[in-house]
Amino acid sequence: MKVLANDGIATSGVVVLEKAGFEVILKTVAQEQLANFINEQEVDVLLVRSATKVRKEIIDACPSLKIIGRGGVGMDNIDVEYAKSKGVKVINTPAASSHSVAELVFAHLFGMVRFLHDSNQNMPLEGDIKFKELKKAYAKGIELKGKTMGILGFGRIGQATAKVALGVGMKVVAFDPFIDSAHIELEFYDGQTVNFTIDTISKDEVLKQADFISLHVPAQDDYVISTSEFQMMKKGAGIVNAARGGVIDELALVKAIEDGIISNAALDVFENEPKPEVQLLMNKNISLTPHIGAATNEAQNRIGEELATQIIDILE
Ligand SMILES: NC(=O)c1ccc[n+]([C@@H]2O[C@H](COP(=O)([O-])OP(=O)(O)OC[C@H]3O[C@@H](n4cnc5c(N)ncnc54)[C@H](O)[C@@H]3O)[C@@H](O)[C@H]2O)c1
Repeated sequence: MKVLANDGIATSGVVVLEKAGFEVILKTVAQEQLANFINEQEVDVLLVRSATKVRKEIIDACPSLKIIGRGGVGMDNIDVEYAKSKGVKVINTPAASSHSVAELVFAHLFGMVRFLHDSNQNMPLEGDIKFKELKKAYAKGIELKGKTMGILGFGRIGQATAKVALGVGMKVVAFDPFIDSAHIELEFYDGQTVNFTIDTISKDEVLKQADFISLHVPAQDDYVISTSEFQMMKKGAGIVNAARGGVIDELALVKAIEDGIISNAALDVFENEPKPEVQLLMNKNISLTPHIGAATNEAQNRIGEELATQIIDILE
């Protein structure tokens, strides 16, 4: 049986698949040549991340396909229902990257509250000639401990983010239209655990109470945060979007920063990927990363192993 990992797969996944007798093709075939390649090689399993699109046309053109696998969560690039209707199984690894995304949220938050994203740009340029000026410019930092973290979307990544927040000593408030309450277990290195139960509250209450907001919702038709939501937030709040481009209204965000409603923001995802708006990229109050939430060695290994295990379970 042949597995084409068109957007790559961690070595740990390749090892599990090869041990089970699968041939793994680690090649990135261009989108327009993909159907031909799958047919020529009689590929059984097509694995993708977000780059390769698996639309109806490919599913129709490739009768050898038995499984389409997505390393990660979002399936926007796969015609999932159509594939299922044709008897092709669609698998993903929803939980594998949750903690990595949560840590990225906190990398941004810890950086934001001490202006690291700006300082890291200015120290190389002027650190030797304007040390005292820069020291003054970055003097009014704050601590995260004791602040309130507001989480919108209390699923896997929202709850993973809550764990990190609780570990840092923050209060956590959350909104999710489909989750009333979540049991959160903090695990420590020596096996000790501490349990929290967090009852979700209304979106308006989260916006009003939180010092920092982090979004962990799926892609949706309307903005989750736009002008009216910004107006409800605490003056000087911070906001992070490591969910999906389009859940924050970016124009409203820039305006909220200009108006002093938001002191700092962090974006890992953008409405216009892979060409984010220049006014976001040039804004010194926004901490930026290029959609790397799940891009850790640990998450990629878990994704590879989880995909491999699911493929073996289905095909053997
Ligand atoms: N930055 C990255 O690299 C990266 C990596 C992985 C996942 N993600 C994204 O993170 C997001 C969350 O992933 P997850 O695994 O936690 O998903 P999940 O399905 O476990 O949780 C999402 C939660 O959002 C809730 N929700 C839906 N609409 C909402 C709304 N309008 N307001 C509040 N809550 C709402 C749902 O009820 C659900 O509980 C997804 O958009 C996913 O694509 C980003």
